[in-house]
Amino acid sequence: MQGSSPQGALAPATASVLANNPPLRAVGLTKRYGQRLAVRDLNLEVRRGDVFGLLGPNGSGKTTTLRMTLGLVAPTQGDVSLFGVSVSDTPRRRSLLRRVGALIEQPAFYPYLSGRDNLRIVATLSGAAADRVARARIESVLAQVELADRAGDAYQKYSLGMKQRLGIAAALLTEPELIILDEPTNGLDPAGIVDVRALIGRLARQGMTIILSSHQLYEVQQICSRVAILNLGTTVAQGQVAELLAAQSGIVVGFDQPELTARAMAALHAATAEAPWLRGLQYVAPEPGAWVPPGGFLIAVDAAVERASEVCALLARQGLFPAELRRREGSLEQYFLELTGGQNGHSTSAVAPAAQPPTRGGAQ
Ligand SMILES: Nc1ncnc2c1ncn2[C@@H]1O[C@H](COP(=O)(O)OP(=O)(O)OP(=O)(O)O)[C@@H](O)[C@H]1O
Ligand SMILES: [Mg+2]
Repeated sequence: MQGSSPQGALAPATASVLANNPPLRAVGLTKRYGQRLAVRDLNLEVRRGDVFGLLGPNGSGKTTTLRMTLGLVAPTQGDVSLFGVSVSDTPRRRSLLRRVGALIEQPAFYPYLSGRDNLRIVATLSGAAADRVARARIESVLAQVELADRAGDAYQKYSLGMKQRLGIAAALLTEPELIILDEPTNGLDPAGIVDVRALIGRLARQGMTIILSSHQLYEVQQICSRVAILNLGTTVAQGQVAELLAAQSGIVVGFDQPELTARAMAALHAATAEAPWLRGLQYVAPEPGAWVPPGGFLIAVDAAVERASEVCALLARQGLFPAELRRREGSLEQYFLELTGGQNGHSTSAVAPAAQPPTRGGAQ
């Protein structure tokens, strides 16, 4: 019998331990600075091959979480482990952190030295011998971040985007399996953002697991496969970006008179008895760039886009003919605002609180 021999019992257990060793797992992670709870009871799991977005407004605890992940600050409570090893396991931490590359906040380089010489210093400080292998690795990471032809220029002559890419190159020196980037596109112009996004895409295709933080929800939506949304130090949502977005999409209907919008909302509410698929009726503000109806609000329905003609028919029966009826694409920003009641002071509101009517006395 398999379970009767110690080895037989051990093998499946070992296999399951390996399978259960995600690149990052945080359980009940909490950090208190005096009276301030920077991170509270945070649970996170990053899986192999994820491009994982840690998303949240300023001060929501992203950097603090990443600093605890790297052992730079100690948690007040809870634990964070990398590849199944607790970061608080001091004897194993050094070898553990060689498997992780990180860029937290601004990279610190010598301004008068070239990009290549700066990387040589980083390599030496991280314990690499100044040999042919290390030199080859430096050239390889410079090529990866597309700085090979500017590697001889002084760091101070680099654009912000180039500086950021050199920071990522430094994080790649130890050939990490996991790379952690805190706000990698912060402050970059659109071209710089595209360069960093392309670089992250290339690293992901090579099989690297990537964790990045950002308060730019749209940016994360473009890059990440999974996200955790933080607010006030804890996760308010976690999951596949595609699934979160699919749950957000639906149909929007707009009228060219505010009173028609209110009548349509009442009619759709009344129709929910015969049409149970008509869920999630709410007033929403149009996305930036979309048509803004008089009164400022559209009606959103959480229904598959194939139901659009049925929505039209329901309204037509009441003599209501929309000026606009279209698919509403989900966005993380919209999702975030719905979860938090719009506490992200750094994004424009795409969606009004569900209870807000477009006109006084409008149906809800
Ligand atoms: N060393 C510290 N001492 C005291 N309070 C701190 C310290 N570091 C962070 N905090 C506080 O903890 C909270 C979370 O900060 P943190 O930097 O983790 O947020 P963040 O999500 O990274 O924000 P941002 O988007 O602005 O970078 C904030 O209220 C911050 O003021
Ligand atoms: Mg931060």
